[in-house]
Amino acid sequence: MGSGSQKQGFMWISGLLFLNTLLLSTADVHYYDFFLQESQFTKLCSTKNILTVNGSFPGPEIRVGRGDTVFVNVHNQGNSAVSIKWEGVQESIDGSNDLIQPGRNFTYEIKLGNEIGTLWWHATSAWASTTVHGAFVISPAANEDYPFPTPDSDKTIILGEWFKQELTEANQTIAPGQADAYTINGSPGDTYGCSNDTTFDYQVNYGGLYLVRVVNAVNQTMVFGIAYHTFTVVGQNGAYSRRSFTDSLTLAPAQVIDVLLCPNQNLGHYYIIARPSSDTKHTTLGILRYTTTINAPQSS
Ligand SMILES: *[C@@H]1O[C@H](CO)[C@@H](O)[C@H](O)[C@H]1NC(C)=O
Ligand SMILES: *[C@@H]1O[C@H](CO)[C@@H](O)[C@H](O)[C@H]1NC(C)=O
Ligand SMILES: *[C@@H]1O[C@H](CO)[C@@H](O)[C@H](O)[C@H]1NC(C)=O
Ligand SMILES: *[C@@H]1O[C@H](CO)[C@@H](O)[C@H](O)[C@H]1NC(C)=O
Ligand SMILES: *[C@@H]1O[C@H](CO)[C@@H](O)[C@H](O)[C@H]1NC(C)=O
Repeated sequence: MGSGSQKQGFMWISGLLFLNTLLLSTADVHYYDFFLQESQFTKLCSTKNILTVNGSFPGPEIRVGRGDTVFVNVHNQGNSAVSIKWEGVQESIDGSNDLIQPGRNFTYEIKLGNEIGTLWWHATSAWASTTVHGAFVISPAANEDYPFPTPDSDKTIILGEWFKQELTEANQTIAPGQADAYTINGSPGDTYGCSNDTTFDYQVNYGGLYLVRVVNAVNQTMVFGIAYHTFTVVGQNGAYSRRSFTDSLTLAPAQVIDVLLCPNQNLGHYYIIARPSSDTKHTTLGILRYTTTINAPQSS
């Protein structure tokens, strides 16, 4: 090998090292505290206690950058032993299958690699997973761009299900079709006839560009759409995907799809629709609401 190619090889390697330092220098470390607790919720005209993280359903969102490290300390203040699964994280995580007993805590260390876009976390057991779950958003690192036009903002939409009955370890198996309602970010909407139920309301600007992260937390294939609007699919399950256009999404259980939404219809309100693919009777509605008016053309 001549000295020229050796020199080239050396430059190539130092270039790699330089790139590596750049990547390393942008990786951050994040700390989250999750408090598992029993919280009272009223939906479908009935009240029950559910297990939550920090009292919210769905639970809190984790937001980090590509390649970051995340420590999540889970404090179990509930009545049951629970473990958390970090769905779609490539690295195996210590203690992921170990139950955290009531009164104890456990810190998960999640080292992200190439994951980008949206993943989610949930309780490992089926009964707890129906209420203990949330999104895990991974944005481009500081020195990276999106491989598509930069969205004005992003929105997570979690499709969930609601059971009027208490769910326990004894009845783990949640057969498809058993839910009393399906939910969009915890809201059953008004189709179930209970006036106190909340409706998911998503406010957008005409002509804006939104990155919408749709998470299927239901143990069933779900169909999702927004009346008169189409989506550009840009990613799924924590990776960018080849772009495709569609007017509705079909999500397998646990699947996440990232789409771009460009509100370009007449100003107004449009139904957001979520339902199991096998059941057209149980449709859950939310609302896409245009908040701006189109600027009137300047008179000249
Ligand atoms: C959960 O609640 C605790 C105590 O209020 C708080 O310190 C923590 O930041 C919360 N975690 C999240 C993820 O919001
Ligand atoms: C609706 O909410 C009101 C006030 O918060 C409460 O008094 C009423 O009992 C609720 N109705 C149902 C059906 O849950
Ligand atoms: C977490 O658990 C450890 C033992 O595993 C204990 O030493 C520590 O005090 C606990 N921390 C909190 C905040 O509960
Ligand atoms: C999902 O539903 C199937 C039945 O189709 C059932 O066997 C399975 O245990 C359920 N899984 C969870 C996590 O609830
Ligand atoms: C699960 O078990 C609890 C307690 O035994 C019971 O109240 C509830 O009805 C059961 N739920 C289902 C969906 O079978």
